[in-house]
Amino acid sequence: MSVAAIVLAAGLGTRMKSRLPKVLHPLAGRPLLAHLLDNLSQLSPERVAVVIGPEQEAVAKTAAPHPCVVQAERLGTAHAALQARREMEGFDGPVLILFGDTPLVTTETMKKLVLRQGQADNPAVVVLGFRPADPAGYGRLVLDGNGLQRIVEAKDASPEERAIPWCNSGVMAADGRLLFPLLDKIGNQNAKGEYYLTDLVRLAREQGRICAMVEGEAEELLGINSRAELAEAEAILQKSLRHAAMENGATLIGPETIFFSWDTKLGRDVIVGPNVVFGPGVSVGDDVELRPFSHLEGCKVAAGALVGPFARLRPGADVGHGAHIGNFVEIKKAVIEEGAKVNHLTYIGDARIGAKANIGAGTITCNYDGFGKYLTDIGSGAFIGSNSSLVAPVKIGDGAIVGAGSVITQDVPADALSVARGRQSNLPDWAAKFRQSKKKDK
Ligand code: UD1
Ligand code: MG
Repeated sequence: MSVAAIVLAAGLGTRMKSRLPKVLHPLAGRPLLAHLLDNLSQLSPERVAVVIGPEQEAVAKTAAPHPCVVQAERLGTAHAALQARREMEGFDGPVLILFGDTPLVTTETMKKLVLRQGQADNPAVVVLGFRPADPAGYGRLVLDGNGLQRIVEAKDASPEERAIPWCNSGVMAADGRLLFPLLDKIGNQNAKGEYYLTDLVRLAREQGRICAMVEGEAEELLGINSRAELAEAEAILQKSLRHAAMENGATLIGPETIFFSWDTKLGRDVIVGPNVVFGPGVSVGDDVELRPFSHLEGCKVAAGALVGPFARLRPGADVGHGAHIGNFVEIKKAVIEEGAKVNHLTYIGDARIGAKANIGAGTITCNYDGFGKYLTDIGSGAFIGSNSSLVAPVKIGDGAIVGAGSVITQDVPADALSVARGRQSNLPDWAAKFRQSKKKDK
């Protein structure tokens, strides 16, 4: 399929009331624009131009490797599309126009639009229409016996037009030979004083060409203009991510309380408890149980492991086969080898925990001295007594035992016992005598 695409992403997103450009607000852990460009890439478009605003290097970075063109002044959606003229020069196939703030449009839907544009009646513009529950701010599609007659923006619509249920999603496919000549003709005599892309339809009809509408799903076509709409889109996306996880063989307990990232990977027979949250970059093997209230991000969990409740796996946590990570345990940039147990109230950062090692409650790897980060290496089968501090860099040999409450600052040889704490001294009857002396004082 030979297709080009213009993605409009220069808008200020005023209604978001944010310093962050609207299209960079995240949905399921990645920017709106990245969702859309990912779906678009699956069509393998011949050319793509992303229209961004001035001083929006961060948007250009997200759009890369797609080329960006800058719309110096934000004069409306038609003016924005015109900025891609050079990138589209000589392309005479269908041109998709997408909005960066309408990120959930699937590849399938894009394809449907392009195919409709190529049909024998050859519409100049095919618009993706939908019937949202609340059509409020959307442009309305005026249909007649010849298909789509024109689009009227909500602000310019008469009460009768506002009653039309069909809305403009903003997504369209236009005949590449006609697009720029028509865009050149669009003026700004309207309620907002902007150059409206939606005027394409009326102008094409005036030239004797037909325009068509393809119906899309409201859930897919939500335009994000405010934080409330952002939350609505997140809810839609989460619902589909949960559905996909279950389809692929995971059990979700209280699915509506579990939050996925766009790229979360779960194996077969994974059980995810209530209120588990996934940040980006998590991959979980088969038969893993993630117990309630755990937070995972940028980490790997191998088959058969048990995590949580209330565990936090931060970037670089690599939990091995059958390992146990228990409640109130935080793991960062550390390999927990097969069968190791870190079950309670512990911080493991910049470390390796050898196979079958047992880390007692309240163990802390002291990995940071205010300047650099250092490694703690714990050998396989080692046993770290509760409430120990391991001051990195430090190495605990295979099979070694560290006594509870130790502050370990030097390496411990394999199979040794190391105790590094104040010696206990018991003074018989001291407490009783002490109390007695206090009584006399009165
Ligand atoms: C637009 C449509 C409306 C449709 C709705 C769907 C027009 C005139 N209106 O309205 O019919 O129902 O989308 O969500 O097209 N942008 C630029 N440069 C500009 C202005 C906008 O790049 O000068 C970009 C924005 O970043 C955004 C997109 O174009 O991604 C749409 O702009 P927005 O201001 O959100 O238009 P709506 O009012 O939502
Ligand atoms: Mg919008």
